[in-house]
Formats: sequence, C-alpha cells, structure tokens
Amino acid sequence: MLRRCLDLLAPALERPGAVVVDCTLGLGGHSEAMLTRFPEVRLIGLDRDKEALRLSGERLAPFGERATLVHAVYDELPEVLDRLGIPRVHGVQGVLFDLGVSSMQLDEADRGFAYAQDAPLDMRMDQSTGISAAEVLNTYPPGELVRILRAYGEEKQAKRIVSAVVRERQREPFTNSARLVQLIRDALPQAAKRTGGNPAKRTFQALRIEVNGELSVLERAIPAAVKALAVGGRIGVLSYHSLEDRLVKQVFAAGAASTAPPGLPVVPEEYQPRLKLLTRGAELPTEEEIAENRRAAPARFRGAERVREDVK
Ligand SMILES: C[S@@+](CC[C@H](N)C(=O)[O-])C[C@H]1O[C@@H](n2cnc3c(N)ncnc32)[C@H](O)[C@@H]1O
Repeated sequence: MLRRCLDLLAPALERPGAVVVDCTLGLGGHSEAMLTRFPEVRLIGLDRDKEALRLSGERLAPFGERATLVHAVYDELPEVLDRLGIPRVHGVQGVLFDLGVSSMQLDEADRGFAYAQDAPLDMRMDQSTGISAAEVLNTYPPGELVRILRAYGEEKQAKRIVSAVVRERQREPFTNSARLVQLIRDALPQAAKRTGGNPAKRTFQALRIEVNGELSVLERAIPAAVKALAVGGRIGVLSYHSLEDRLVKQVFAAGAASTAPPGLPVVPEEYQPRLKLLTRGAELPTEEEIAENRRAAPARFRGAERVREDVK
C-alpha cells in the first residue's frame, strides 16, 4: 500500500517547502520513497526504537539535511516540532503513520516479539525504558490480564490462558517465550487450536500492545498530528488492528463532521468541518499485495485532508 500512501499525500507534498512527518520511520522504506518521489520535501522521521533509527539513518544518509531523524514516541510530535522550530499547529503538509511492529523487530529473535522462536519475553519497542512482557505476565492481577488478552488480542479463551499463567507463574516466573507458547497450546481446547494460525498469536499481540501502551499513545498522537497539519495538508494512517483503525476512524469522523447545533439555517465558520475524508471507509490491501507480503493482510488505510484552520 506504499503507492497508495504516496498518491494520497502527493497533492500536499508537491507544494514548495513542504514538510512531512513520518511518525513510524521503521527501516525508512516509506521515508525513502517520499524523499525520492517529492524532491523538494523536507522529512522528519520519528521512531521510538533506536535500532530502527540507526538502520534508517544509514538508508536515508544520501538525502543529507532533507531528512531529520528523531528518537521519540509519536505522541511527542508537538514537542519535536517545537525543538525543530516548526509550528506545532498548521506547521506541516503531511503526516504518515504505518503502525505496529517492523519486520526487523519481528525478525530479530532476541527482541521477543515473535512466538515462533524462543527468546526473552521483552517486546519493548524502546528497550531503554518501560516494562517488559515478562513483567506484565508475572505481576499483573489476573482480571487485568484477562482484559488485555480480550481487548487487545481478541482472545476468546482469555480466562483459560490467564488461569494457566497465574498457576504457572507462582511455580516459577516467566522469562522466555517458548514456555508461554507451550502453556497456551496446553491450555486451549482442541477446537480453539484448529483455527486462526498459531494459538499464541493473539496473546503475543495483546502483550505487545500493553507493553508499548500502543493505543493510549495513538489516541493522543492522531489528534496532535491533525492539529499539526496546515490547511491543504494531508494525513495517512496504515493500521493493522481493529482497535487502532477504530481510533483513527473516530478522530477523522469527528474532524469531518460539522459541530453546529442542529437546526441552524446557515452553519457559521467555526462549526464547519476541519477535515475532508480522502478514503471511503478503510481501504484494504489487494490480493496481490497480500500474496507478496502476508504481514500486509490485516492492513487498513485511511486518509484525510485539513480543510480549515482551528478557530482560535
Ligand atoms: C510497521 S513499522 C514502520 C515501517 C516503515 N514504514 C518502513 O517503511 O520501514 C512501525 C515502526 O514504528 C515504530 N513505532 C511504533 N509505535 C511507535 C510510537 N508510539 N512512537 C514512535 N515509533 C513507533 C516501531 O518501532 C517501528 O519501527
């Protein structure tokens, strides 16, 4: 969906002096494509993962000062813009989010994101701060673990899994992924194991979202990104989880709605929508894209354009 992201942002990024923020730099693939296709654009790239910044830094080095890479969580966007001397309100022409984990994070076994290899249960995108997946598993009250597995993993067997976790963690705290994967296999009834791929997948996703506070960060970041857009500026968001997509949908829908009390014959300027939706619902990857990259299958893409300034 790279092409679609670029096409959607193009009218905003083709403007002279355009600034775009890639809030999820990762390995720099989207950033490199934007810097190449829009030769005038200045890019600010954020990632909370220092290894991602190092690798994308090498990749984007040929673009010199056109790319500024910053170690930050994306809800820190307003502070990052302040530090760079760019207005935090209406200061940029484009913002891109490609949410979730990068292929590098999934493929590096010792980061603990993958359930297919035995590794320390870490899952922190920024390994210099915060608590690991093992700490969540070993210390959270059972009710909280059930809530997380249900909400973030859509795991129907959350109670069964958590009972087994609580029993086992009393015997010996969890440190590595293989023991958790085996415990989930043993805890689930046969019927639940027949569908949905690896039975540990949903629990791992839930732990990752909790460890990185992904939804609460996103809830702050999307409105901040909309605020940062100049009139005519565009935002594109690729999400991989229904809760992420719902959050994006809600913020975009609120921005695209009139806030006028019902029954006004003429809607005054301050009540007019601030956003225009650029995608009809969420756009999905094509079959060819999924065949090329299985990890793209759950992707949902939404875009919007800023059509009016905030009323002061
Ligand atoms: C799917 S990857 C992005 C891949 C990228 N578009 C590319 O072309 O290589 C998501 C990246 O976002 C980063 N990330 C996830 N949540 C973040 C957050 N809250 N703040 C900053 N970076 C975040 C991850 O560390 C990861 O490197």
